[in-house]
Amino acid sequence: MSPGAASGVWSLLAALLLLPLPAGCAQYGRIEPLVYEEQLLWVSEGAGEVSTYRIPLISFTPRGSLLAFAEARKMSEGDIGTKFIAVRRSTDKGATWSPTSFIVNDVYNLDGLNLGSVVVDEEAGTVILVYSLCFHLFQCSPSSTMMVESDDDGLSWSAPRNLSVQLGVKSFAPGPGFGIQKRYDPAKGRLVVCGHGTLEGNGVFCILSDDHGRNWYNGAALKSIPYNQQKRPLDFNPDESQPFEMRDGSIVINVRNQNNYHCRCRIVVRSLDGGETLPVEELFFDYVLVDPAVAAGALQKEGILYFTNPASTDKRVNLTLRWSLTNGTSWEGNPLQIWPGPSGYSCMTSLDSGTAEDRKYVYVAYEKGHRDYDETVSFVKIHLYGGR
Ligand SMILES: *[C@@H]1O[C@H](CO)[C@@H](O)[C@H](O)[C@H]1NC(C)=O
Ligand SMILES: *[C@@H]1O[C@H](CO)[C@@H](O)[C@H](O)[C@H]1NC(C)=O
Ligand SMILES: *[C@@H]1O[C@H](CO)[C@@H](O)[C@H](O)[C@H]1NC(C)=O
Repeated sequence: MSPGAASGVWSLLAALLLLPLPAGCAQYGRIEPLVYEEQLLWVSEGAGEVSTYRIPLISFTPRGSLLAFAEARKMSEGDIGTKFIAVRRSTDKGATWSPTSFIVNDVYNLDGLNLGSVVVDEEAGTVILVYSLCFHLFQCSPSSTMMVESDDDGLSWSAPRNLSVQLGVKSFAPGPGFGIQKRYDPAKGRLVVCGHGTLEGNGVFCILSDDHGRNWYNGAALKSIPYNQQKRPLDFNPDESQPFEMRDGSIVINVRNQNNYHCRCRIVVRSLDGGETLPVEELFFDYVLVDPAVAAGALQKEGILYFTNPASTDKRVNLTLRWSLTNGTSWEGNPLQIWPGPSGYSCMTSLDSGTAEDRKYVYVAYEKGHRDYDETVSFVKIHLYGGR
């Protein structure tokens, strides 16, 4: 190698060193997720006070704790039926959890309550849980949108409040997952909770509050086609959804494609005005995110997107974590399989204190079983940097 060639190599190296690190090569290196620990939060016994635990939600809190919620279905595994809302809380980043408390009891009711969306108001220091009552109108009427609130980090909860008084009466099933408080403009500070309607009057609907949950009003609607009519296979039928905020202030909503319109994959739609509209121009189908029509987990953390679902076109098995370094236009090719067996709904959160410790983890709650996905609700702490 001639001296000239050597200096050429050195100047090339010097140039490379000046390049910014590619996204995804954060301070700790390449994203290389690892299941760091896992524990079962709830086990369905099929009998007793609670037959089945389903519909896990997980959230951070204003003081850096974790809260996990589930529907405790008293009589059967069905969506319809009387239920409690079960909560457990962890103040040590998921290592240990409080015993279960039942914070809402729908009393004996043939339809009962359904979860739900948990939203943290970081400005007010509160946690709000929005859920539905009598969603299916099964031997009850009307359907109501309800809210409970905690101002002590999830230790105690207010009496239920009926939001249908402000929103109007309609079957609205929030989430399941988390709602957001806008951290960026437009509408910084706004609470945005999205959910879906009945199978006929389905679609993604968002409710908004600009005063920390005191007053709520109806925001964006992405309606199914044909709207308010019986659906056929392959109709456009957006269903359960998970919103998250991008760092440019847009809200991306990752949606269950109930009738497999266009693909057996996720619908993704974006709001540019803080959840007031969901324009069709901002909608696409993410072919990489194959999906058996289920509620999935989605999260933006430090500019990287994370997604969990049972990665299968037709069966609820194979719970998988994917991540995107390109705002969801592509996904890295080496997903993490969290559980190969039966797995259903999932929800994801992270602690965003900015400390080195909190930058390393995301937390997932999901339905997990051996024969059926509704046997347990499991919690996994995922180390994003291969345990380093
Ligand atoms: C909630 O409010 C609506 C509208 O006023 C009412 O029709 C409904 O019965 C209320 N639900 C409950 C559970 O009180
Ligand atoms: C992703 O979107 C953010 C704004 O939310 C933008 O700043 C960033 O450049 C985008 N990254 C890529 C890789 O497109
Ligand atoms: C599970 O998901 C991974 C990642 O997408 C995929 O490679 C694998 O084939 C899936 N397994 C099954 C049984 O669907």
